[in-house]
Amino acid sequence: MKDRHLSIDYIEYSSVSEMEPLDQELVQAAIEAQKGSYSPYSQFQVGAALRLENGLIIKGANQENVAYPSGLCAERTAMFAASANYPDIAFDTLAVVGADHWVICESPATPCGACRQVMAEYQKKFGKALKIILIGSKRLYKFSKVDDILPFIFDSLKV
Ligand code: THU
Repeated sequence: MKDRHLSIDYIEYSSVSEMEPLDQELVQAAIEAQKGSYSPYSQFQVGAALRLENGLIIKGANQENVAYPSGLCAERTAMFAASANYPDIAFDTLAVVGADHWVICESPATPCGACRQVMAEYQKKFGKALKIILIGSKRLYKFSKVDDILPFIFDSLKV
């Protein structure tokens, strides 16, 4: 028997102005993407902006439904749109922001488990680390790969 320990590295920014210009642009795009949120049930608006390897930015926002499970998170809306329209272009960075009644949360909104698993799938598909930026009004986090927000990823059907 062994006691094991897992630690992750990530960057915390206290302001978007501390970020590199490309990341600042992606944060702005995620905030803009919130405008597309259809969230009459939760009143929680999530915006996602996905930068592809070729520089293109694809936006997504959460889409709700009176039959709750029929809705979809912002992150998957963006990733599925990107993969459906540009199937051969790798994902580079995904930025996510959440707001309660249109007020951006102070702490970064953290993606749900299903969205993390979908991120993992595309990271595997393209064989390229997918960076993740989580946006809050008081602080922002940047992770260099999906593994850092989804330890012990399920990614193989083989032994
Ligand atoms: N939501 C997202 O869009 N992304 C997440 O990672 C977590 C939750 C949405 C789903 C629903 O429309 C609302 O936020 C409240 O759960």
